[in-house]
Amino acid sequence: MCGIVGYTGYREAYPVIIKGLKRLEYRGYDSSGVALLNTGLKVYKKKGKVAELEEDVIGKDLHGHIGIGHTRWATHGEPSDRNAHPHLSNSGNLAMIHNGIIENYVPIKNDLLKKGYSFKSDTDTEVLLNFIEDIQQNNNCGLEEALRIALKRIVGAYCILLISKDDPETIIAARKGSPLVIGIGKGEHFLASDASPIIEYTKEVVYVNDYEIAIIRPDELILKNLGNEKQTPFIQKLDLELAAIEKGGYSHFMLKEIHEQSETIHDCLRGRLLPEVGKIMMGGIENHIDALKNAPRILIVACGTSWHAGLLAEYMIEELCRIPVEVEYASEFRYRNPVIHKGDVIIAISQSGETADTLVALESAKEKGAFIFGVVNVVGSSIARLSHAGAYTHAGPEIGVASTKAFTGQITVLTMMALKIGFAKGTITNERYLQLMNDLNAVPEKVAVILKNTSNIERIAEKYKDAHDFLFLGRGYNFPIALEGALKLKEISYIHAEGYPAAEMKHGPIALVDENLPVVFVATKDSYYEKIVSNVQEIKARKGKVIAVATENDTVIPSMADDVMFVPDADEIIAPLLSVIPLQLLSYFVGIAKGYDVDKPRNLAKSVTVE
Ligand code: AGP
Ligand code: GLU
Repeated sequence: MCGIVGYTGYREAYPVIIKGLKRLEYRGYDSSGVALLNTGLKVYKKKGKVAELEEDVIGKDLHGHIGIGHTRWATHGEPSDRNAHPHLSNSGNLAMIHNGIIENYVPIKNDLLKKGYSFKSDTDTEVLLNFIEDIQQNNNCGLEEALRIALKRIVGAYCILLISKDDPETIIAARKGSPLVIGIGKGEHFLASDASPIIEYTKEVVYVNDYEIAIIRPDELILKNLGNEKQTPFIQKLDLELAAIEKGGYSHFMLKEIHEQSETIHDCLRGRLLPEVGKIMMGGIENHIDALKNAPRILIVACGTSWHAGLLAEYMIEELCRIPVEVEYASEFRYRNPVIHKGDVIIAISQSGETADTLVALESAKEKGAFIFGVVNVVGSSIARLSHAGAYTHAGPEIGVASTKAFTGQITVLTMMALKIGFAKGTITNERYLQLMNDLNAVPEKVAVILKNTSNIERIAEKYKDAHDFLFLGRGYNFPIALEGALKLKEISYIHAEGYPAAEMKHGPIALVDENLPVVFVATKDSYYEKIVSNVQEIKARKGKVIAVATENDTVIPSMADDVMFVPDADEIIAPLLSVIPLQLLSYFVGIAKGYDVDKPRNLAKSVTVE
């Protein structure tokens, strides 16, 4: 986790770094800090959000044309001033920031303690920094060489930026497992965990690869591998506008991103879904259609919200393509020695494309010969690059820590995939194929209808905001949506919530039901409708409060529910793209009513780059 920023050039470094850290704050906000080099090395750091650091440094010497900055999501050591990055080496000569985890830091720390080193923090980062310093002193070598030796001896994941008093123009960076982008300007370079701190200065970037070291000066960028061989930097042009990462008049990124969904789903469909000619154009699938349609099995690997999109894909692919699908939590998949057969296809789903659990799972599956298809939002991210083929979700930058528009983008892509594979395989009739294409094509307009008036959802949120627990229930295609609704509420409002298949409720969770328990039913008109009506009755019979997501013009569910959020009618395979939206809004409004920071919920971070 963590966001990192670096600058070397002719500008004052501090404003560039602080602005960049604010853009990366979604990655972690336990503490932040900067190190600036001019006549000396100055480090300022503070527990809490970047705004608190800014306040703390008022009146201090912030001058310097080179600097590094960090916003932390703590893994080793509590969030505090002393555990905040940058860390200084024992000599005071080096400053370093780090995104990742050094897994073998304990024996290294013990060795260093024996040699007389002392530590001001509890972090693994400070251990790595002093390890580098120790190697430099013992081997009497340059910093770059010492870093190379250290990196060969550590286990774990990192993106680090290092500066030294001895070389006041140079930043040395290295990555393995945590992202790093370098922006190339005229007489200046920018470094960051993603491109958002960079785009207002330059659109030319280099994505650093694992096991590469970058030596960056105002006029020079040298890339090397750990064997000290020079690598040619692959310069790419960023296709990202500044407006896409700013709030654009909304009070929160989460609200902006919920409201963008009509447009982002449209963008995701554009040029791909062509119902008028009965075609779905997706190069990533076309080029590998045989591998996909003949796959004996599809494994879907993801975490969190992306896992929920995967569960929905399981239902769609099994129905439309008749291929057995298994949906795996990436963190479990990797470590339980999964059986991967020849021909199996892995679909990896990730908004950030940097989630360590997913990335590591894919790396090991790739080693075993699996074909990997990535459904990723962030262009050029590690998972996108590791995949053999893929389809981007085109939702644009998602800054709110709770995933909203990326989720609907994932479902949109996965629906198109299932349709395309099913059609190629002949497991779906021409008529159903065309009907589902048309229904999918109508989604952006229907989403806009839901978003036109949200005051009813705001009222419902106000009514139930003090509940201690929520149940979210759904059947069939709406079951993953129930899970997603519960996760959103937990993340944003800190209310305990559980998602369940509606029928499973009677096998246990129904014991929780009393007059204080709000139960959210995702109960749109589908093939399970009659059954879910009975499930609503079962809750009402026990005095539970029912909040229903129902189809417009339905009269039965609304007559039984205490509160209703309507969505337009759609085929049951397409309906989840609509029914999730009221649930996103519900959690947003509950979070706001409770006075929480919905864009940066406690203990979370946008991109979980640690296992
Ligand atoms: C979603 O609201 C969460 N914050 C989280 O569950 C997220 O979906 C998960 O960490 C996976 O992230 P990814 O899609 O970037 O891989
Ligand atoms: N392991 C480091 C720390 O705890 C960096 C954490 C991170 O990348 O999130 O400070």
